[in-house]
Amino acid sequence: MRLVLLSLPVIWYIFNHLFNTWLPTNYKFDKVVLQNLVQEVLQDHPEGNATAIMIDLTPKLQQAYPGLINDLNFEHWFYNNAGGAMGQMTILHASISEYLIFFGTSVGTEGHTGVHFADDYFTILTGEQRAAYPGKLEPEVYKPGDQHHLPKGHVKQYMMPGESFALELAQGWIPAMLPFGLLDTLSSTLDFHTFYLTSYYTAKDMVKNLLNGKF
Ligand SMILES: *[C@@H]1O[C@H](CO)[C@@H](O)[C@H](O)[C@H]1NC(C)=O
Repeated sequence: MRLVLLSLPVIWYIFNHLFNTWLPTNYKFDKVVLQNLVQEVLQDHPEGNATAIMIDLTPKLQQAYPGLINDLNFEHWFYNNAGGAMGQMTILHASISEYLIFFGTSVGTEGHTGVHFADDYFTILTGEQRAAYPGKLEPEVYKPGDQHHLPKGHVKQYMMPGESFALELAQGWIPAMLPFGLLDTLSSTLDFHTFYLTSYYTAKDMVKNLLNGKF
């Protein structure tokens, strides 16, 4: 036990070192390209229909990143409970170093961003996201086309009103994010079907991409 505790800082140091050196060589997605594609599609949708925006955006993502993006299927959405917030999501891509998802809420939500071993780029499609660090008495407000960057290790309170959806890119140690994404289920909701769907879709995509040589 003592050996395990003593080795934790060493393990953290190694993973942090890799995060700053080798891990980014595995990244395929570019936050600027993603934001440009979102802004392009938004121009055709001044009405702000999230369904229609995702239906138009997905093929453009597939064209920009061949072989890396799943087809959009509204049967493959599931809930996400994390940090006290509840939303829904579907996985466009999941690998060991990156994920790309549609995330949002029809009814509205508020909570803790989580502390992540990854950089997070949250590009708004519809509605808005508000976020703030402690001591900031006025929120940052992100509107359609804006991209909210939450750097690795940073923490904010955030909220999204009803009918807010986003394209979310995370780059870092994705498996380290999964406990945050799943433990509210075990400690609070006891919604094991959602737990199963989250684990199933994440593992399936990670293995598929790994077999294709995408770490
Ligand atoms: C939004 O777009 C979808 C897909 O094109 C369509 O089926 C739906 O009726 C639209 N919703 C509204 C309120 O126009």
